[in-house]
Amino acid sequence: MKDILTGSLVRLASLDAEELGKAYGNWRRDSEFMRLIDMRADGMYSGKKQQDVFEKMLDDDPQAHHYFSIRSLEDNRLLGDINLDVTNWSTRDAFVGLGIGERADWDKGYGTDAMNIILRFAFTEVNLRRVTLTVFEYNPRAIRSYEKAGFQHEGRIRRAILRDGKRWDVFYMGILRDDWMEKHHDQIMDKRTASFFDPQPARR
Ligand SMILES: CC(C)(COP(=O)(O)OP(=O)(O)OC[C@H]1O[C@@H](n2cnc3c(N)ncnc32)[C@H](O)[C@@H]1OP(=O)(O)O)[C@@H](O)C(=O)NCCC(=O)NCCS
Repeated sequence: MKDILTGSLVRLASLDAEELGKAYGNWRRDSEFMRLIDMRADGMYSGKKQQDVFEKMLDDDPQAHHYFSIRSLEDNRLLGDINLDVTNWSTRDAFVGLGIGERADWDKGYGTDAMNIILRFAFTEVNLRRVTLTVFEYNPRAIRSYEKAGFQHEGRIRRAILRDGKRWDVFYMGILRDDWMEKHHDQIMDKRTASFFDPQPARR
């Protein structure tokens, strides 16, 4: 079996609340980063406060909430974090969110690689049917990255977010397991296993 949590540029690793809390304390000082990841206006936390938030998160049901740090394969540097939250077991749906902290690390493929890893994990290990995310209208980098990972545009909440006195839309994007399997069919080693956990014909 392949290492399910390793991609071509990054790997998903355990989340150390103290380490990530400290990093987030610094990353959130960049108001652009804050505005990209947080809908609210009150995003400035100290490293300690951020650590407390992560510690509480890690107490959540581990079957439903998967939290990882993102580390570079090249030098093991902490780049950001990613989380997959199962929202409904009967429909096997989850929400995903991620952030790469330093601007210098944006546009290098790390975020898309981390997303590709978590989608593989979501569809081939957690046994999900769909993964959804939200992204802000003013974040074309993230939108492009999600499109590259196979997400489709599914809708928008109009003027749901206020920045610099201007209202922006929040987009919903989603990917179904069928979409993902179609995109990655050449990498799925065992087609029997890939379809084993969902014997019903695919419905879109
Ligand atoms: C969004 C994020 C996860 C994407 O990861 P990434 O590693 O930067 O993404 P990639 O390098 O794989 O791809 C970025 C793509 O956006 C494109 N892009 C960058 N700026 C752009 C812009 N202003 N307009 C359109 N496309 C843009 C890049 O050219 C690249 O596309 P390409 O590969 O076709 O050339 C990462 O940048 C990040 O965490 N940013 C800060 C926080 C954030 O926005 N989080 C997401 C909240 S929903």
